[in-house]
Amino acid sequence: YMAPGKEEQWRRRCRLVLIPLPFQGHISPMLQLGSILHSKGFSITVLHTTFNPPISSDYPEFRFVSAPDNLSDQAVPTDNLLFFISHINVKCRVPFQECLAKMVEQGREEKEEIACVIYDECMHFSEAVAEHVKLPSIVLRTTSASTYISRNAIVRLKADGVLTSQGSTSQELVPGLYPLRFKDLPVSKIGTPEIFLQFITDINKTRTSSSPVIWNTNDVLELPSLQEIQKQNHVRIFPIGPLHGVAPTSSSSLIKEDRSCITWLDKQIENSVVYVSLGSLASIDKKELAEMAWGLANSNQPFLWVIRLGSVDDLEWNKLLTEGFIEAVGENGCIVKWAPQKEVLAHGAVGGFWTHCGWNSTLESISEGVPMICKPCFGDQRVNARYVSRVWKTGIQLENICDRGLVEKTIKRLMVDEEGKKMRLRAKYLKERVEISIRDGSSYNSLNDLIELIRSF
Ligand code: UDX
Repeated sequence: YMAPGKEEQWRRRCRLVLIPLPFQGHISPMLQLGSILHSKGFSITVLHTTFNPPISSDYPEFRFVSAPDNLSDQAVPTDNLLFFISHINVKCRVPFQECLAKMVEQGREEKEEIACVIYDECMHFSEAVAEHVKLPSIVLRTTSASTYISRNAIVRLKADGVLTSQGSTSQELVPGLYPLRFKDLPVSKIGTPEIFLQFITDINKTRTSSSPVIWNTNDVLELPSLQEIQKQNHVRIFPIGPLHGVAPTSSSSLIKEDRSCITWLDKQIENSVVYVSLGSLASIDKKELAEMAWGLANSNQPFLWVIRLGSVDDLEWNKLLTEGFIEAVGENGCIVKWAPQKEVLAHGAVGGFWTHCGWNSTLESISEGVPMICKPCFGDQRVNARYVSRVWKTGIQLENICDRGLVEKTIKRLMVDEEGKKMRLRAKYLKERVEISIRDGSSYNSLNDLIELIRSF
């Protein structure tokens, strides 16, 4: 029961402003969060960069505002991401603050005030900008809780001189971070060590930030890490993920999805297809492409392979695949530039996912009960891969793909062998537990707590 005065107050204060980082793996969870909060009665404005903007027509129920940030219209500089993220944080501060001030004004006029700003952890300038216009803010963390903890550990290990700036290739376990080895730490080899340390300090800001935190994870997957985080921090945390499973949401793809692969999947036997995708940023060289291709072909399993434009360092990659490969594979393989991934993973024909273990892909695979072959490329992906193979035990980590024999053997282990069958059973069980957590377990409760907090602002 709510007193009429209170209800009236809320009706006036129910717009939320979301600030995503302009990369696919970050835009998606932010829009999914928007859909969840919209389904709970909030109005949503997405305040975004001119660079790599979300596709507003997919979300007619949201308002989209593009800030004049002067970020040049370029391709995502995948070889220099950290520098680019810090550049975004510098460039966006003033224009985002101006936009936000106008929105506050408009909210008053429309009698629909803004309750708070929710920003991606990498858009850390947003907290000060919200504060400036006297709005509370909440952070959305789009990686796993264990990644957050391992980033903090890097700062500590570097200060102790245990870890050099180039990271480590050591197989030894990191004390206190089981099951992570030194080589799994999300150390970046890109840019200078100073830029990387600054990056971690900025996004993991815990002692200086007072923003509560939304996590795209939950207790079923990461209870010990979440407990550790809550112990270390004074701000409240809300693990409400996997976000894409909470409320129905439109596609948030920045690239057009090729739906022809669904027709191809319809013709395949249940649980037989290996789905292969390395996400929106990772790339491989032509040697890796060839070894992957022949490993897949020699395994005789049908496969659906996403080769994103620009993801192979040789622009003529399709020529590399013609030398006998297409004939060898025939109807057994389907290659597309971009797939409707969530739908693919939900398809009964898909029996395994060869993934780079980006956090979104990992969560999507877990939510559909699909076991994985993990081939992490950089950053948090190594942490996720280790959790898949060692904690949830729903996948096999491929430590070296430059060998077609190993690729073939690993595919057979997952798709045919007894070992793979056990993984599939565990994956189905994990899927059920995650579903329960969303339906009436810990994620559900955290979401209610979050809504209560927003309404109390
Ligand atoms: C980036 C980082 O690389 C990742 O490690 C981090 O956790 C999030 O940000 P990305 O590499 O793109 O993300 O991977 P991922 O997090 O898996 O996100 C990719 C998204 O693109 C997924 O939601 C996936 O469903 C979607 N996708 C991918 C498609 O819709 N179609 C495809 O063909 C491939």
